[in-house]
Amino acid sequence: MEISNFCVFVLMLFFKLVGVSSPCPAECLTCDLNKQGEIIVLTCTNVQIQTLPNTVEDLQAKDLNIILPFGRFDMYILNGKSRLQRLEINNYHITSLYGECFKGCPGLLTLDLSNNEIMIIEEVNFAGLGNLNILNLNQNNVTTIGNFTFRNLPALKILSIVGNKLTSILKDDFTGLVKIAKIDLQHNIIKHINTEAFHSLQTLENLNLQHNNLTGIAAGVFSNLTSLRELNLQYNHIIILDPTSMVGTRLTKLDLWQNQISEVPTEFLGSIGHLGLTVNLAKNNITNIRSLAFNSVVLGT
Ligand SMILES: *[C@@H]1O[C@H](CO)[C@@H](O)[C@H](O)[C@H]1NC(C)=O
Ligand SMILES: *[C@@H]1O[C@H](CO)[C@@H](O)[C@H](O)[C@H]1NC(C)=O
Ligand SMILES: *[C@@H]1O[C@H](CO)[C@@H](O)[C@H](O)[C@H]1NC(C)=O
Ligand SMILES: *[C@@H]1O[C@H](CO)[C@@H](O)[C@H](O)[C@H]1NC(C)=O
Ligand SMILES: *[C@@H]1O[C@H](CO)[C@@H](O)[C@H](O)[C@H]1NC(C)=O
Repeated sequence: MEISNFCVFVLMLFFKLVGVSSPCPAECLTCDLNKQGEIIVLTCTNVQIQTLPNTVEDLQAKDLNIILPFGRFDMYILNGKSRLQRLEINNYHITSLYGECFKGCPGLLTLDLSNNEIMIIEEVNFAGLGNLNILNLNQNNVTTIGNFTFRNLPALKILSIVGNKLTSILKDDFTGLVKIAKIDLQHNIIKHINTEAFHSLQTLENLNLQHNNLTGIAAGVFSNLTSLRELNLQYNHIIILDPTSMVGTRLTKLDLWQNQISEVPTEFLGSIGHLGLTVNLAKNNITNIRSLAFNSVVLGT
């Protein structure tokens, strides 16, 4: 028997003899300890988060059967969990975030609140999350974002609000996201985007708006987004593309599959300053095909 195996064996025997049970909560499937024997990784089902050890750095909690009081994710829930770097809470029936509910976790890098029923998010809720890289709010019930909601997230790179109930994007919805690289808003019912809503996002590389209710792309909406490379507008109801909506962008991929565009938007495409642009215009109403000076345009039917 190897010496390390032998040590484990002796340790197990010791715990058995003195009756020390595992420090891992019964509700937790995954439970990893560090060298000091502190719990650092937990994957739990139907657990009250506040009862878990404060040493945890990576926590996934899902499927809570008991409803939180008022459906509210309150500050006390994470009280003392100051070492958290990754937090995932799914199917906890959260309907609202209350106050500075993450303030105690300044080291948080990833926050995943997908598959809840959150209706309102506010600037105050994200206070103290100066290091956060990834925020996932997929499959919730958010109807509006609200002014400066993400202003406390200067390090955020990926924002995902897929499958919510957003109907419009207002001027200051994304203001303050100075490091953002990717925004995913697919599967909402967005009909209106303020002309200035994206203007401050000079680092944005990838924007996904597929499966929304856009009927047109207005003048200047995406103009001057110099980092933007991929824009997905599949499955909207787009009829009108303003020729100035993309001026100053350098897209490599533009997906307009399944819209209601009836004419090849030559001027619109010509304004995109990139030679390697791939455009997908299939599943539109284009009948009159004119010559195109682009590397790759998929027209199809
Ligand atoms: C959230 O949306 C789902 C699906 O549309 C719905 O069943 C649920 O009742 C909503 N929750 C709240 C709190 O509105
Ligand atoms: C955002 O601010 C504008 C004015 O600057 C105001 O009209 C609007 O109601 C505000 N929206 C929200 C959701 O607070
Ligand atoms: C959005 O578009 C879908 C069809 O893609 C339609 O069924 C729905 O009524 C529209 N919703 C709004 C709010 O316009
Ligand atoms: C884009 O940038 C140019 C040059 O800096 C500026 O003249 C123009 O107003 C900008 N357009 C928009 C829509 O911000
Ligand atoms: C596009 O074509 C579809 C199917 O042929 C038709 O129902 C729709 O009215 C057309 N839309 C426009 C804007 O021409």
